Amino acid sequence: MNLSVSLGLRRKNHVMKPWTEPTNYDGAGSDYRPTSVSDFPAEYRRLREESPVVHSSDFGGFWSILKHEDVSRASRDWKKFLSGQPFVEYKSFSDAIPISTNPPQHTYFRKFLNQYFKPERVAALVPEIEHSVAELLDPFIRSGGGDIYRDVLRFIPPGVLARLLGLSATGWESLSQRLEEADAVRHDTIAFGRLQANLWTASVEELISDRAEHPRDPSSDIMSGIRQLEPEGRPITHEEMVNLGTQLFAAGADTTIAALGSFTVHFATHLEDQKALRARPDLIPAAVEEVLRLSPPIHQTTRRASEPVVMAGQTIGQDDVVALNVASANRDEDKFSDAEQFRLDRQGNQHLTFGFGPHMCLGAPVAREELRIFAEQLLAKTRSFEIDQAPEPGGRPLRSGWAGVTVRVEGL
Ligand code: HEM
Repeated sequence: MNLSVSLGLRRKNHVMKPWTEPTNYDGAGSDYRPTSVSDFPAEYRRLREESPVVHSSDFGGFWSILKHEDVSRASRDWKKFLSGQPFVEYKSFSDAIPISTNPPQHTYFRKFLNQYFKPERVAALVPEIEHSVAELLDPFIRSGGGDIYRDVLRFIPPGVLARLLGLSATGWESLSQRLEEADAVRHDTIAFGRLQANLWTASVEELISDRAEHPRDPSSDIMSGIRQLEPEGRPITHEEMVNLGTQLFAAGADTTIAALGSFTVHFATHLEDQKALRARPDLIPAAVEEVLRLSPPIHQTTRRASEPVVMAGQTIGQDDVVALNVASANRDEDKFSDAEQFRLDRQGNQHLTFGFGPHMCLGAPVAREELRIFAEQLLAKTRSFEIDQAPEPGGRPLRSGWAGVTVRVEGL
């Protein structure tokens, strides 16, 4: 028996229809077109009021769930809302592990990965993150400013991931080169999606072959651990190793870069908030959570209904693609007071930016440390920083990200 098939890892064995097929709903009466929305918070506010579960014919057709309570419930209910492809807008990540898997295989891989993201493991990364941030930020501050997105932010998370996974110095150099190339086509969704899919593969292949020759302690080295996995008692395949390693890079880089950009943009444009945070640096973690709530790097997670589901008066058909819209849920007035306002004193900030339920972001503690350390250093090493040119949005659909953030900085 082919065990990888019985484990459900192969696409053809999934119970779902291929993702390229249109969904059952014919689109009648649907007026939600995310590809042409310019003001997402306003559009999500309208939809939460008028149609909290809505269909869109964009990207081959998909449903959106907009309310915090519904998004949370659906995120937990993995039996009705199956994972299989993380984005409605890209079709290329369908074999990503663990994000595209469902229990029991998800449980197996997730339990394995969790050991590398325990609090003590993340704490051990802190000096490395502090060093990476200082190395990039210090010369930037000395130069009086410039495009902080291009010069600083977009290198921090890939550098942290390279260290987390134990990539060699030459491996990191060629990865930086590929990041430059991908950045150059950021505005072209199709070209960018294609490059994204292969961006990390060479680094992951390097890790796999290096650890074959020079195995490290699997309890501390992720790729050495991955090599020893035995899903359903048979050795892990090369393809699975690549999928696992690639997902760690792909999930942790762009998202965290976007959040670092949103933090900078907020405090470089809201100088009263910057002043308040300088006076109360103990509020940096709260400030980070508020940035994450209002500017989630990924607007939505994606599922497919395993059976017909009735929600908010709409019937989501079996096999229909369903987006769990965390960006809307994070601004739901029924969950957050002053939902549209940035509040440094917000208590119990239960935003869904890292998702919820079994697939909740594995790397959230790492991302939070990167954001905290960057924020602390930026504030501690400067007297002020202000936006110098209108920030350039990333331009990717259903994302909050940046292509350029030019600031003036006054160092100490
Ligand atoms: C601000 C930064 C980040 C954001 C906003 C973010 C967001 C998310 C979200 C929304 C999910 C859930 C996807 C779903 O339910 O389908 C997720 C899953 C995941 N994230 Fe993150 N992420 C971030 C940083 C990171 C980092 C730094 C890493 C790695 C070190 C990482 C690794 C992962 C992995 C492996 C998964 C899949 C978990 C699973 O399927 O069980 N993420 N992330």
